[in-house]
Amino acid sequence: MIHPLLSPPSGPLQVPSADSASAPLASTVTPSDAGLSAEQSQASPRSLKFSLIIPTYNERGNVAKIVAQLTHLLDGFIPGDYELILVDDDSPDRTWQVAQDLTEDYPQLRVMRRQGERGLSSAVIRGWQVASGEILGVIDADLQHPPEVLLKLLQATLDGADLAVASRHVEGGGVSDWSVVRRFLSRGAQVLGLIVCPAVVGRVSDPMSGYFMVRRKAIAGPHMNPVGYKILLEVIGRGNIGDIAEAGYVFQERESGESKVTWKQYIEYLGHLARLRSRGRVARLAQKLPFKFPTQRFIRYALVGLSGMVVDMLILYLLIDGAGFALTRSKIFAAEVAIINNFFWNDTWTFADMTMRQAGWSSRFKRLLKFNTICLAGLVLNVLLLNVFFNLIFGQNLKYLANLIAISVVAVWNFWINFKLSWRVTVVENSP
Ligand code: GDD
Ligand code: MN
Repeated sequence: MIHPLLSPPSGPLQVPSADSASAPLASTVTPSDAGLSAEQSQASPRSLKFSLIIPTYNERGNVAKIVAQLTHLLDGFIPGDYELILVDDDSPDRTWQVAQDLTEDYPQLRVMRRQGERGLSSAVIRGWQVASGEILGVIDADLQHPPEVLLKLLQATLDGADLAVASRHVEGGGVSDWSVVRRFLSRGAQVLGLIVCPAVVGRVSDPMSGYFMVRRKAIAGPHMNPVGYKILLEVIGRGNIGDIAEAGYVFQERESGESKVTWKQYIEYLGHLARLRSRGRVARLAQKLPFKFPTQRFIRYALVGLSGMVVDMLILYLLIDGAGFALTRSKIFAAEVAIINNFFWNDTWTFADMTMRQAGWSSRFKRLLKFNTICLAGLVLNVLLLNVFFNLIFGQNLKYLANLIAISVVAVWNFWINFKLSWRVTVVENSP
């Protein structure tokens, strides 16, 4: 019998504790589950020793092989006491369907097809949310994580470890065929993590590992907020992890399909580190304010502002020292290019969610005009404030402090007015 697909849970990314694991599932089942009752269509209510998540995106060439190998190993170790949960993000190559067809031969395999959400880390947590295992694990589908190591990890958790991590950087571990650049990037990311977040990153030898298992009770409860690929960081950072075991493994080369890692994952990694580091302090501070301030959006806006400063400086340098133009003329041109630069990034990133609802070139041009005007007004405000601070409050010696405060005030003003005017959705949508 082919198993029906699991319905992806919605709501916060939070792993339930053992007792509640099977209860809330019934409510997430949609009637479209081919007329099956909630009990039949979702994970088994009985608790199991081990649930292993296999996240996939375009892995149709690998699923049959990995499922066969894992089943063989686990059947010899804990027969009948485990499940494999493949979480596919609606792959264009229909990996989910290939996997669902396998459930006929592998009754311990369950398949989730996610259509709303995307991303490796959230896929893993969604899988854990429907899992009934006491130990929760994850392994890549592409056979780059050698399945044999699984039993060592499992044994370590059965022996009492809260977390067991497959590592490339302990005895028996390594990478097979990586270029110097890739090794450097991988290690560089780790060093950076050690500097920003030593308490989390320093606890394991391979913090980038996507091959590990963790005791449910060590991570049940807290809201997880993983970005990108590095879910292990989130597990260590938010969980309550005591003993950690590690087992060496050699990262294999891919035989089928391709990696989904792009430069975007590196950027996401930096954001993740920063968030783990502040551990919600920024968010808590924002909650204390008497009004609701869009902190995340402001951070994006401020980063874009920094990029604008670089553009401004660069152009000023090129025009004055390079081409010999006069100061004022050069500055006006540089500032205008910086404003357009900032507009572009704010429009496609900072306010992307709002831009989406006002498509078309003419509305984009209108936003640019508004943004430009507000920024120029901001410049005037900046000069005024600088004069006030300089002449009335701080005096000669503190002119840079005066300017810093003036810039900060104007940045918030610019942000707020642009948020409320330039990007505000003015077209009322026709609700169906
Ligand atoms: N559901 C889902 N959604 N799965 C995804 C997604 C996604 O958006 N992106 C990738 N995957 C799946 C892939 O299909 C694969 O099974 C696994 O996640 C790892 O993706 P790869 O793209 O093959 O990653 P990698 O080989 O570059 O990185 C591996 O090594 C890192 C260590 O350097 C992964 O194991 C990482 O987890 C690990 O950190
Ligand atoms: Mn891979």
